Amino acid sequence: MKSILMVVAAVGVMASGMAYAQSGAEVAKAKGCLNCHDMAVKKMGPSIKDIAAKFKDDKGAEAKLTANLKEGKGHPKSAASDAELKAALQYMLTAK
Ligand code: HEC
Repeated sequence: MKSILMVVAAVGVMASGMAYAQSGAEVAKAKGCLNCHDMAVKKMGPSIKDIAAKFKDDKGAEAKLTANLKEGKGHPKSAASDAELKAALQYMLTAK
């Protein structure tokens, strides 16, 4: 009986953890990034693979792009929070 309760509790913790720590791909989808950015195909914006390739040697890319997207500098302004932008950008910048 006790072990069943522990399993239930563990699953509950895992499920709530996942809800808070959305993956970058999920954030990119939820925040509409994928409306304009496809993984491999250029849509309104460049493909995610092209973005990853462009910034692969740029260590400051994440910070710079977060600022650009927040202020709408050279990019459609994004309503995502800093944490969401970070997750979405990490997903894009590390795409292969
Ligand atoms: C309304 C369409 C649209 C949406 C939504 C959108 N983008 Fe973009 N994105 C663009 C376009 C267009 C460009 C190309 C801008 C340019 O370089 O002139 C671009 C470029 C980029 C670049 C490359 C910038 C550079 O300097 O080369 C990144 C990174 C990026 N977007 C990330 C995101 C993220 C993250 C989101 C979601 C929070 C997002 N975009 C949502 C249209 C969009």
